[in-house]
Amino acid sequence: MRTAIHLVFGALAGPAVAMPIVEQRQGSSTVQCAPIPSPFPTWQQFPAQKSLPDPFLPLKYMTTDNAGGSSTFVNDIMTGKGQGRIKTKEEWYQCRQPEILQMLQEYQFGYYPDHSQEKVEATRSGTTVNIAVTASGKTGKFRATVTLPSGASASKPAPVVINIGGMQNQPYLSAGIAVAQFDYTSVAPDSNSKKGAFWDIYSGRDIGTLTAWAWGFHRTLDGINMTVPEIDASRVGVTGCSRLGKAALAAGLFDTRITVTMPMSSGVQGLGPYRYHGLSGQDETLENSKSGAGWWSNSKLGTFVNHHENLPFDAHTIAAAIAPRALVADQGTGDQFTDSKGTAIVMYPAAKAVYDWLGVGDKLGLSIRSGGHCDNSGYTSVLPFVQKVFFGTATTKDYTSTGSLGAPMTSAFPWTTASPPKTA
Ligand SMILES: *[C@@H]1O[C@H](CO)[C@@H](O)[C@H](O)[C@H]1NC(C)=O
Repeated sequence: MRTAIHLVFGALAGPAVAMPIVEQRQGSSTVQCAPIPSPFPTWQQFPAQKSLPDPFLPLKYMTTDNAGGSSTFVNDIMTGKGQGRIKTKEEWYQCRQPEILQMLQEYQFGYYPDHSQEKVEATRSGTTVNIAVTASGKTGKFRATVTLPSGASASKPAPVVINIGGMQNQPYLSAGIAVAQFDYTSVAPDSNSKKGAFWDIYSGRDIGTLTAWAWGFHRTLDGINMTVPEIDASRVGVTGCSRLGKAALAAGLFDTRITVTMPMSSGVQGLGPYRYHGLSGQDETLENSKSGAGWWSNSKLGTFVNHHENLPFDAHTIAAAIAPRALVADQGTGDQFTDSKGTAIVMYPAAKAVYDWLGVGDKLGLSIRSGGHCDNSGYTSVLPFVQKVFFGTATTKDYTSTGSLGAPMTSAFPWTTASPPKTA
């Protein structure tokens, strides 16, 4: 989040009016950030965008309030010709990435609890880690289990993949990677009933269950760090499939300690785009995900139902906000439940444009395999990518290939070619 902000007055390109500009100084470089709109705009203030929103355009410049009567405004912002587009890596990391994190909490995830106000206690008994989190006088408790690879010790600690809902453990253990798991229902059930450790502390808050599960990943990592010296808590993967894949993505988004984020078959509210939702199989949409499991997100996302083209972000924006950390998206070609094609040919190349521009293109992987929804083969499919991140092990597998799903749909992200910002 933003730090060391002070207001100065100046003018950006455009009308010569005094407007507050957030200025940040880091070392010798000075970066001026467009202020994050406060309050955040409503869906009506955003124009409908049929293609994926330009991730380089600050929110302030995305609203129709900024159109100034221009008849080409919508086309301009969709094609990378928006006013105020960020141009340097410093602007990305100091301005736009923090803005995206706030925007996503506002419009989808709900506000992640302030961890600095939490006290975490953990005890270990064999393979079980008991975790207790206390904040504002309330305590929530849950358990995680840890399986260590042979040879892991305090002097030779192993990296870990934390999962919810189960995964294919053995190939990971054989590769020298520990596996940890917690029962997600003990953190927050997949329903409107506000039970479990998270809601024992945060009842009444407008926070989505995906965020509650993300919090479970993070507190599990805290507990592991405190009690399992055989695990190296600085090399951490997070995974889960389907709705739990959406949660794994949230876990990677909200904690920079996560080294590699591995959402499997994640669909909308994961790495499946809201736009271009019906490209393969069953059509999971904002509308049916919100009506079927409205608790996954906050209530604000519901205001975009039937207006998903007014969302100022899409799945590629979530992926891009994780850069420069590693992210690998699993999808099966036979998956009837999530939008494998949209994830592969729309979301992935759009997010990759940002990763490439930041100089970390190799950190964003796409893992297309045969098989269906949550097929265990997804875990072996992404394993070489994970080994490369954890151990630097070279792999010949191509994690940029869209496989049989087709070529990248360039019309979905015209801003990549129209006017790419110069690299810093
Ligand atoms: C583990 O705990 C130590 C001591 O509190 C802390 O400095 C470190 O940042 C923690 N590491 C992780 C990955 O949480």
